[in-house]
Amino acid sequence: MIILGIETSCDETAAAVVENGTEVLSNIVASSAYMHAKTGGIIPEQAAREQIKSIIPVIDEAHQGAFKNLNSNTDKKSLLNKIDAIAVTYGPGLIGSLLVGVESAKTLSWLSNKPIIPVNHLVAHIYANFINENQETDSNTPVFPALALVVSGGHTDLVLMKDHGNIKWIGGTRDDAAGEAFDKTARLLGLPYPGGPAISETAGLYLVNNPSTMLDLFPRPLLDEKNFDWSFSGLKTAVARELEAKDNVNKKRFSAEVQEAIVDSLVVKSINAIKEFKPKSFLISGGVAANKRLTEKFKETIAEEKLSVNFFAPSPKLATDNAAVIASAAYFNFNPVPWQEIEANPQLSITDAHKK
Ligand code: KG4
Ligand code: ZN
Repeated sequence: MIILGIETSCDETAAAVVENGTEVLSNIVASSAYMHAKTGGIIPEQAAREQIKSIIPVIDEAHQGAFKNLNSNTDKKSLLNKIDAIAVTYGPGLIGSLLVGVESAKTLSWLSNKPIIPVNHLVAHIYANFINENQETDSNTPVFPALALVVSGGHTDLVLMKDHGNIKWIGGTRDDAAGEAFDKTARLLGLPYPGGPAISETAGLYLVNNPSTMLDLFPRPLLDEKNFDWSFSGLKTAVARELEAKDNVNKKRFSAEVQEAIVDSLVVKSINAIKEFKPKSFLISGGVAANKRLTEKFKETIAEEKLSVNFFAPSPKLATDNAAVIASAAYFNFNPVPWQEIEANPQLSITDAHKK
């Protein structure tokens, strides 16, 4: 089955064509993040305007890329006939951005008479781990029960998956999301938006020469509590206080400290959950899963503690917002609804979709 996925929840306009939930035929992402770099954060109206400009060219490119053997003059209707269904993110996200994808997908469904599947963006992130990224790992797909950590710009959720569509929330952030913590502290350090890649790169410049320095300047709240919750809002206050107290800060070392505080918190609590729930697979996803130090530390800790769990982390391209994961999630949770019933829902939570 070939599914066209559409994703417009935030500042990425994305379309992808995926076969059987695992084979990516095309994956196109246009981002307006560079525009928000100037303001240090997203301006929702501007993100929505960029979505409107990009959506049709991005869908066109995804179609053309997927069916390369068709020449570029092929009319859009026959390209649309090559797909079996349309999947679209309906939440959570920014309402103006979500509406662009949802209305485009509904129009395409109506025009082509193809089924349409509404997809929860947070659940879709997890499916980055079900996509075949290269030949070597093709046989290596996650098995259930799985524990999944979703770490994005707006959310931090830890869920147990007994099967596709069977998701139980076991923990998450009480305030800022992990990605938000990177973005906000980067801003304090004068680094550009999005903060995660900027902090990671700047930290890398320090770590390359100081691989074994103790990095414990910033707090790791809630670590001793017997729950799977996080709190990241204190980090920006701690960073601001340090910056105020010191005349001269080493930005590279500071970035390494910030990264280690976030990574440490995520790893300790997730490892506790692996020990308690004993899943067969542990999957990380969302933009923060693109962080190299995070994947490294998970691998190290799982090996050190001899935990019998298979660890999965997607490539950065599939970890950050994209539409291939939307198409993949729709394939594994195939639940078409009449297009008239789909409405964008900015507040959707990770357990709101795929109820069984
Ligand atoms: O999943 P995503 O692309 O969009 C949302 O659904 O929010 O996540 C974006 C977040 C941003 O906060 C960004 O700073 C963070 O992911 N991020 C990273 C890295 N790449 C993106 N955080 C840490 N290290 C990275 N390499
Ligand atoms: Zn996302």
